[in-house]
Amino acid sequence: MQKAEEIKKLNEEEAAAELARLAQQLKNANIAYYQDDAPLLSDEQYDAAQRSLKRLEAAFPHLKAFDSPSVLVGAPPSEIFSKVVHVERMLSLSNAFNRTDVEAFDEGIRRFLGLGHDTTLAYTAEPKIDGLSLSLRYENGILTQAATRGDGVVGENVTENAKTIADIPHHVNGAPDVLEVRGEVYISHGDFEALNMAQSKKAAKTFANPRNAAAGALRQLDPRITATRPLRFFAYAWGAMSAPIATSQAGALRFLAGLGFQTNPLTATCADVDLLLEHYQIISDQRATLGYDIDGVVYKVDDLALQGRLGFRSTAPRWAIAHKFPAELVWTRLERIDIQVGRTGALSPVARLLPVTVGGVVVSNATLHNEDYIQGRDSNGASIRDGKDVRVGDWVQVYRAGDVIPKLSDVDLSKRLSQSEVFAFPQTCPQCGSPAIREMGDAVRRCNGGLICPAQSLERLKHFVSRKGFDIEGLGAKQIELFFQDAELPIREPSDIFTLANRDEANLTSLKYRDGFGEKSVTNLFAAIEERREIGFGRVLFSLGIRHVGEAAANLIAKHYGSWDAFIMSIDQAHEKTNAEWEALLSIEGVGEVMAQSLVSTFRSAAERGAIDRLRAHLSIKDVEASNTGASPIAGKTVVFTGSLEKMSRAEAKVRAEALGAKVSGSVSLKTDLVVAGSGAGSKAKKAAELGIKTIDEDSWLSVIDGI
Ligand code: IVH
Repeated sequence: MQKAEEIKKLNEEEAAAELARLAQQLKNANIAYYQDDAPLLSDEQYDAAQRSLKRLEAAFPHLKAFDSPSVLVGAPPSEIFSKVVHVERMLSLSNAFNRTDVEAFDEGIRRFLGLGHDTTLAYTAEPKIDGLSLSLRYENGILTQAATRGDGVVGENVTENAKTIADIPHHVNGAPDVLEVRGEVYISHGDFEALNMAQSKKAAKTFANPRNAAAGALRQLDPRITATRPLRFFAYAWGAMSAPIATSQAGALRFLAGLGFQTNPLTATCADVDLLLEHYQIISDQRATLGYDIDGVVYKVDDLALQGRLGFRSTAPRWAIAHKFPAELVWTRLERIDIQVGRTGALSPVARLLPVTVGGVVVSNATLHNEDYIQGRDSNGASIRDGKDVRVGDWVQVYRAGDVIPKLSDVDLSKRLSQSEVFAFPQTCPQCGSPAIREMGDAVRRCNGGLICPAQSLERLKHFVSRKGFDIEGLGAKQIELFFQDAELPIREPSDIFTLANRDEANLTSLKYRDGFGEKSVTNLFAAIEERREIGFGRVLFSLGIRHVGEAAANLIAKHYGSWDAFIMSIDQAHEKTNAEWEALLSIEGVGEVMAQSLVSTFRSAAERGAIDRLRAHLSIKDVEASNTGASPIAGKTVVFTGSLEKMSRAEAKVRAEALGAKVSGSVSLKTDLVVAGSGAGSKAKKAAELGIKTIDEDSWLSVIDGI
């Protein structure tokens, strides 16, 4: 052990040697303890070595290694990770599967930016690492926080774990005061094999694939366990930063490499789609020998100013796309076809398969889409899988589409049993017996039982409590299934959730005495429900699970009406379809006739409306505030673009206006505040003039947005 006075006598060389020795001793001890369950040191010896190391590091701070085992001291295992709200959302990527998709990506960007084909538009192309994304925050050059992606908005704080990863610097020199570096945590093939060997040697759980192993390691509550796992990190993006780090994607990667991050050596800048596809082939050819899993190639617009103009869709940037590798195909047997009834009544056939491993994951179900698909036709009657029908007992080829949802790609007719029969698709709902109807032009057969169908009610409730819905801690799909069938404390419709606590109080066999519950979990559950009485408008609308109304549409509708009451008042009149209320509904971005009709008829159905009003009585629904109010003169205003703009496409103009808090509408009405008339503006500009609505030209519009 190094006493204080002994340390003072050490020269730099001796101190460095001693530090290295102690660090190695502690690392070995960690591996022996956490990985092999065979301690090398007693607790006292371990603590003493830790103390010596810390003293030495305090006396020679410049000699402290970035991955010193001392960083783990003072980081006791947490019970649960704290949450981190990402300053800039962590998004996912849209996918491309072939040349046509990549061309459409390039085309869409050119259209958005108003760039012709004679203008060069450069992209970077780099491997898509199959791991987990991580955001590292550096303040004044010091790593202060590491967070997982979570749902993109809120992630988990895994700072202590991230500090154990050798590829992640604890300090960086020359970075802006605030810099969030983003990238992928992964495990190499070799390390994965070794880890699984070690796990099975001590009869511990082995991992299905490197990605799962990396996820397990990063989310260990005890960072000392993470330290024993061979995690690595590639940097490829960034989040918040106090000053720009580059003007191009390639430049930003060079900057990150200069700070000491690993960036992928297979990154290239490509001047057009052909070169992107060439680089895709180069990466694809090396895939098997890279030593780590990749699942595609990511293309990004190189110019960061253009990235800024392109911005984001709801879940992914417009300026990037993941060109995925073709999925692995595996043969297995179709054992049964089950029919599931979804929340909108759709009867979905599901193939139950002989379990088989596809891309490192065991697959035992695959979607069969609808009855036409089973017959080997698509909804237009065209042949799919060469018109082969699928029958129980068949050998079928499966793959994981987009690497997630298992689907069928082929049927081996040579192995079909002679007694096999064409699958008879049910004409009534297997859950409630109501007629299952297929409307003209619809590929899907639907149970028309509505809320009387238990399957629909249950699925709607599950959707209601889902993460993007009410997201009530302790009340997930599993609990909903139990409560749905509960004789004493049933939850059959959303409002029942908010009466649960009162009903429980009046109940003799209170929830807290039941198996699987307890005083604490019941108190927590009721508190979580209470917390959700106050909730945003968009979330409520999405939670209702109205057909065709997804999360993005629900939020846009909420933004348009501002308050729930204003929305209800308007929707109640919209059914006439000739009036301003119907027009207003259709003027919302992304709301077409089909969605509008679905909304109107849901609110007009007595059963549906009853359930919605009963729910509403328990809630305080928050209004949607216009974003950027104050900062922007068009916040909260309704803007209409007409005619052709020279300096930016309509799509970009719309995105810019919305980013400044405006609502963009397709038609001029008394609710319009501002019309931007490009060249050749016709009837809309005329109508605006008649109604006395302020109309400006493109240059004035540019000065509105540039002035901010
Ligand atoms: S860029 C704004 N580049 O893929 C989007 N992502 O499917 C920033 N990923 O969540 C992501 N390799 O976890 C980017 N070279 C790469 C990547 C990459 C892997 C992951 C990342 C992302 C997911 C999207």
